[in-house]
Amino acid sequence: MKKIAPSILSADFSRLGEDVKMIDEAGAEYVHIDVMDGMFVPNISFGLPVIKAIRNVTERVFDVHLMIEDPGRYIDEFADAGADIITVHYEATVHLHRVVQQIKNRGLKAGVSLNPSTPVMLLKDIIKDLDLVLIMSVNPGFGGQSFIEGAKDKVIELVELRDKYNKELLIEIDGGVKEANIGEISCWGVDVFVAGSEVFKADNPAEKIKRLKEIVNA
Ligand code: DX5
Ligand code: ZN
Repeated sequence: MKKIAPSILSADFSRLGEDVKMIDEAGAEYVHIDVMDGMFVPNISFGLPVIKAIRNVTERVFDVHLMIEDPGRYIDEFADAGADIITVHYEATVHLHRVVQQIKNRGLKAGVSLNPSTPVMLLKDIIKDLDLVLIMSVNPGFGGQSFIEGAKDKVIELVELRDKYNKELLIEIDGGVKEANIGEISCWGVDVFVAGSEVFKADNPAEKIKRLKEIVNA
């Protein structure tokens, strides 16, 4: 079963608890949590106390996407805050193998994300150690941007690596995912679909989540 991961970056932060409950009740398996440090990306979002607070309102999988420099400094803190999956950026992590082990040693799933300009092949030697690879289909930092078409070839290349080295690997896509393109993206072999503005700008966000889930599992 393919999964929808609504991104709370586009939620209403003044009533975040209710929005997270809505995600849960609509049947989304993951809550996508975008942490930004104003260094790795040109935006600051939210951090540990916010994750701890929303951990009380749902048992859904917390899919924490760290857009921060040198994420190895904070793996224990994000694990303690309630993360289930921690995804770090290839471009922000000098000792990627060590950080992946840090995440797994906490009993969590480990993901690595690639910016649009970072080649998939760079993951070849670590892919067997990963639970998830997140392909960015926008430049990270903001919700509401348009899907970069080059992501298609990257997903296709990653599917080949998955077939060869790690059949359990989850492929996630993040940025510019809409009702209009999610069906096509699903055909490429993606397992987890992040959607921020498409969900939270909808007249009925819960219905939108259900619709996206139907399309990818059709
Ligand atoms: C961007 C974030 C995304 C963002 C996606 O840096 O990683 O998760 O919330 O937003 P949309 O779906 O609006 O492109
Ligand atoms: Zn994200």
